[in-house]
Amino acid sequence: MSKADKILAWYGQNRRYLPWRSAPGVRANSYHVWLSEIMLQQTTVVTVKPYFEYFLAAWPNINVLAAAPLDDVLHAWQGLGYYARARNLHKCANIVTAEYDGYFPEDEKDLLKLPGIGPYTAAAIAAIAFGKKTTPVDGNIERVVARLFSVTEPIPKSKAKLQELACAMTPDDRAGDYAQALMDIGATICIPKKPMCDLCPLSGECKAEAKGIVGDLPVRAPKRNKPTRVGIIFWLSNNKGEILLRRRPEKGLLGGMIELPSSDWQENRSPLKKIFKNAPAKVAWQLLPGKVRHTFTHFHLELEVATGKCLEPELIKGIWSNASNFGNYALPTVMKKVAAHALKYKN
Ligand code: ADE
Repeated sequence: MSKADKILAWYGQNRRYLPWRSAPGVRANSYHVWLSEIMLQQTTVVTVKPYFEYFLAAWPNINVLAAAPLDDVLHAWQGLGYYARARNLHKCANIVTAEYDGYFPEDEKDLLKLPGIGPYTAAAIAAIAFGKKTTPVDGNIERVVARLFSVTEPIPKSKAKLQELACAMTPDDRAGDYAQALMDIGATICIPKKPMCDLCPLSGECKAEAKGIVGDLPVRAPKRNKPTRVGIIFWLSNNKGEILLRRRPEKGLLGGMIELPSSDWQENRSPLKKIFKNAPAKVAWQLLPGKVRHTFTHFHLELEVATGKCLEPELIKGIWSNASNFGNYALPTVMKKVAAHALKYKN
């Protein structure tokens, strides 16, 4: 039996039930596969499940998702993070609806041209939804392959080699099942700590197991430390007790999301005088005690909150909202933390 045959046989008996997967032997729905793969790009299976189910209930096919207001999609995405994914999801739905009649292209190269679809996701959709012989390699698969072939060079340097090794084992048929089987083996057996080699269909073939170094692989190059940036949030209220919100620029971090106005986020805090000069209103700002901390992919963020009362709210551009209505807006997690912090000190 080839390695792929063993992997597929194991999958037949042990595959995880995941809401975006089709029943065994049934071709997966490309909309389900695409939606799940975009959600899974930076997020765990456990977190994604309820979001996937909510999206399917709200927008059961790509045409209705394309027709949905972007704000509704961003709102439903709240908590998944990396909102550029939600914007690209909506953009992609519109392109597939308008240019492909609502059907995803089956070719990996065409999939790659769509917003939000990189090499991994293009391969995943082509293999899982369309049965193309191609191999998406995620972190789980990298770990399985690094151990199976005892690849001791560190990731990311060894990424191309791991991809090559995973591809070389890919069967002509059932490439989608093969990829998902490796994902499942990586998620349930060949786990980072305390792998359960006695349950593994590849036990006996695994070079790292033979050498007794399974737990040492994969080797990862040391991560660079993330910098810390700081900023001041302006919690500005009007005479009705409403708080000023604004929309972030479309491009960049948290693009198009609603936020509490803020100074720039920089590695060194500017003098308060300068920060307040650039605040949305010239009022007597007062700093609240304490800090709000949040970590993004590339940096840690520490925010302080300055409160102020605005007497001429009509002169200020933005959205005035009661804090109890913040749920109506696509506020990213960091802004929810800020709101919770500020509300602790209300009155
Ligand atoms: N992670 C990314 N894609 C996945 C999939 N299709 N099944 C399980 N885990 C995944």
